[in-house]
Amino acid sequence: MLHEILEQAQEVSDELQRPLHWAFDGTFGRGGHARALLEKHPQLKLVACDLDPAAHRAAESSFAKEISEHRLMLHHTNFANLPKVMEALRAEIGESFIGFDFMMVDLGVSSPQLDEAERGFSFYQDGPLDMRMDPLSKRRTAADFVNELSEEELVELFRDLGEVQRPYKVARAIVHDRKTRRFERTLQLAQLIERVDGWHKKGHHPATLYFMGLRLAVNGELKAIEDFLPEAIANLGPKGRLTVLSFHSLEDRIVKQSFRKLEESEEACGENVRRKATSPSDLEQKQNPRSRSAKLRCFRRFAPGERKSRGNKYAHLAPPKFREDQDDRGEEE
Ligand SMILES: C[S@@+](CC[C@H](N)C(=O)[O-])C[C@H]1O[C@@H](n2cnc3c(N)ncnc32)[C@H](O)[C@@H]1O
Repeated sequence: MLHEILEQAQEVSDELQRPLHWAFDGTFGRGGHARALLEKHPQLKLVACDLDPAAHRAAESSFAKEISEHRLMLHHTNFANLPKVMEALRAEIGESFIGFDFMMVDLGVSSPQLDEAERGFSFYQDGPLDMRMDPLSKRRTAADFVNELSEEELVELFRDLGEVQRPYKVARAIVHDRKTRRFERTLQLAQLIERVDGWHKKGHHPATLYFMGLRLAVNGELKAIEDFLPEAIANLGPKGRLTVLSFHSLEDRIVKQSFRKLEESEEACGENVRRKATSPSDLEQKQNPRSRSAKLRCFRRFAPGERKSRGNKYAHLAPPKFREDQDDRGEEE
């Protein structure tokens, strides 16, 4: 959904009637989105994060020019640590920074992470049962979760994070099998799930949702999004926009609820750009089956004084005199 993301960035520039100055990419990956944004907006400087050291190694060569020209400042950290990233940025460029014109996150794992068996995300290729986006961190691995949680805790994890409707038999089988042999490999777990649950839908491996739940738990992904969203919006400049691309209904629910809360609160500082999430076109879904469950949401921050006049959706229903008062108050803010 790169096209839609770039469209949002362009709309900010059109509204501000100037080139974009500062942007933020919380999930740099191999920098596909970042590259497109930097190319389209030649005056733009990009602050970025990624948890994965492999993303940083790749960027050192593929973005050497942008890094040396200070057009790209890449941090090895969780995007939830945005306040620390902002401290570093302010220390470098001074307090004149008024906020990002554009911010984006593209949640989940990258294709290189999925495709590399050693990272432990794949249920098709054998690898260590790891799933940490940052293998240098001290976080518990997927193997730690599978070998150490009780049967009830496994059921909860697969049901609440993986959205598996009936994970009971798999949880019981894990607890049974691990008495004789620890779970260490991805295929060991995938084959158990295949044996116990069986295939229900062609092309949809029975381990898909179980692995998804484990991955979310290992990386604390939902909590990171919850922490990040209000911080991100607080760091948007006037008329700046934040786009969030998610691939999981739980992620999208958090985004939807956080945006709504921020929009509807008394001190609303911005609004959803569209009521509904945008999904990939049929063509994109065909070309890239991984995009099937993608949802894009965008939040736009108000300019100072804009809040009341745009924010009061019922102003047109008020008596004329009251309407004028409302408008006046809007102007003052
Ligand atoms: C879907 S990929 C992003 C791909 C990127 N947009 C591109 O064009 O190459 C997600 C990336 O975000 C990273 N990531 C996921 N959650 C993160 C978090 N909470 N903080 C920082 N990086 C994160 C992953 O390591 C992965 O490299």
